[in-house]
Amino acid sequence: MGVLNGKVAWVTGAGSGIGQAAAIALAKEGATVVLTGRRKEPLDETAASIKEAGGKAVIQAGDLMKASAVTRIAAGIEKKFGRCDILVNNAGLNILERTWKQLTPAGAEQVIDGNLSSAFYCVTAVLPMMRKRKDGVLIHTSSMAGRNPSVLSGAAYSAAKHGVVAMSHTINMEECINGIRSCVVCPGEVATPILDKRPVPVSKEDRAKMVQSEDCGDLIRYIACLPPHVVINEVQITPTNNRGYLANMRQAHVKV
Ligand SMILES: NC(=O)c1ccc[n+]([C@@H]2O[C@H](COP(=O)([O-])OP(=O)(O)OC[C@H]3O[C@@H](n4cnc5c(N)ncnc54)[C@H](OP(=O)(O)O)[C@@H]3O)[C@@H](O)[C@H]2O)c1
Repeated sequence: MGVLNGKVAWVTGAGSGIGQAAAIALAKEGATVVLTGRRKEPLDETAASIKEAGGKAVIQAGDLMKASAVTRIAAGIEKKFGRCDILVNNAGLNILERTWKQLTPAGAEQVIDGNLSSAFYCVTAVLPMMRKRKDGVLIHTSSMAGRNPSVLSGAAYSAAKHGVVAMSHTINMEECINGIRSCVVCPGEVATPILDKRPVPVSKEDRAKMVQSEDCGDLIRYIACLPPHVVINEVQITPTNNRGYLANMRQAHVKV
């Protein structure tokens, strides 16, 4: 018996990277997992892996930047299962042209909508279901750029991810009285397809030394399995081989 038997988890960005690993880990722990992303094919792959391992998955594709799509998916979850116990609010994106010199209003809008507005839409969609049961866990994927603004990640991404951190803490402030817990996960570099959108390509060797999707999936599973009286408010997960620290040491003329 898994710790999450009988629970329903909605995982956004479930077709690849961190979301895919989280969906698989939660399903192995017994949760029925609802998988969301814009493209259906990657979600099919995640669902197939889950079913192969004996787990339960349902696909609900959609663009989370559209509030109406989020409402539709959440209504579908309520109709089918009558509950949403866990939200892994993980979908996010970045753009190539991310420096202030390159940034356009359309680019800024895409990054803020794709990381922050979409995350808000998902939270507002699941909270009523969680309040009814006086129980629920929300786990949001922010970033180290959500704590320390970063040129590498860009202005809009840094700002949006700071917003996700603030969003998560305010949920605990208001919803603790309803037994609802919110955790914001701030990863450093994780070897996922999002790195393909970096202006400077990331080598295979560098990717191998980064945090892997499965490391984050396991962390998310751990957070989701905590007993109801415990909340981990925020957690940072970064590679031991931290390229930021190494660059800093080189700058300080420390041999690395
Ligand atoms: N990898 C890192 O180094 C790193 C570090 C810190 C934080 N993060 C954050 O971690 C989260 C997961 O990213 P990842 O690294 O696993 O990269 P990823 O493989 O690119 O995953 C992002 C997922 O989000 C989905 N998605 C994006 N926009 C969406 C939208 N509007 N509606 C629905 N689904 C959407 C994508 O699927 P579709 O394209 O099919 O929609 C994709 O499956 C993101 O929030 C990212 O910002 C990543």
